[in-house]
Amino acid sequence: MKKALIIAITLFLITGCVEKRVEKQDQFDSKNAAAACEKLIGQFQSALKKELVTALTDGGAGKAISVCNLSAPLIADSFSTLPGFSIRRVSLKQRNQQFVPDKFEDSILTLFASLENDQPQRADSYIEGDESPNRYRYMKEIKTGQVCLNCHGDPDKFSKEVKEALALDYPDDPAVGYKLGDSRGAFSITMVFPEANQTIEKILGQEKVEK
Ligand code: HEC
Repeated sequence: MKKALIIAITLFLITGCVEKRVEKQDQFDSKNAAAACEKLIGQFQSALKKELVTALTDGGAGKAISVCNLSAPLIADSFSTLPGFSIRRVSLKQRNQQFVPDKFEDSILTLFASLENDQPQRADSYIEGDESPNRYRYMKEIKTGQVCLNCHGDPDKFSKEVKEALALDYPDDPAVGYKLGDSRGAFSITMVFPEANQTIEKILGQEKVEK
């Protein structure tokens, strides 16, 4: 009788655990999470580039500086109001200390920077936690484009305006010396589950892949 009880309890514990695990995995689908990250980064990136190019044509590099230092965090903030979701830019050489990478971001940035620079943007992801992905991290490389060289390229080629503006706000600026195609940094997304599921649903809508 005692034996039967022990078996019953053990069985209950095992099945209980299995059920819990299945339930946790159900909360998360890496394909859709990655697709949502790609879509949002695409929107962030084109919003930023558009503002940067408009500012450079309208008001020159002096005006454009405020796009990289003011608009970028603002655009990031507007995306960060999505439940279970946050996005920011990080770099190994930061002009602004706010963009210092954490351990995971640092290792991915180092990897991106060590690879050939004539390749398209790379991406990488990581699941934090043991069996349950309650935090999903996604990073997408930011490449140095032609327009970026105005303020992140060879300082000897900077306009007088850019030199003065940078010297004023960033006296020990390390974020220069980049060449076309170099890794300038990365967009870094953290998703917290299960809250992020509603954001994925909202972003992907019809495009969501069913399991
Ligand atoms: C008009 C000058 C200017 C141009 C052009 C420019 N940036 Fe920046 N960038 C800045 C400034 C200034 C900062 C520092 C922002 C701050 O203080 O928040 C910065 C910061 C950054 C950061 C955050 C990491 C850091 O160094 O602090 C990244 C990433 C970045 N820029 C990428 C780019 C890319 C990619 C392009 C081209 C698409 C670009 N920038 C074009 C001026 C510029």
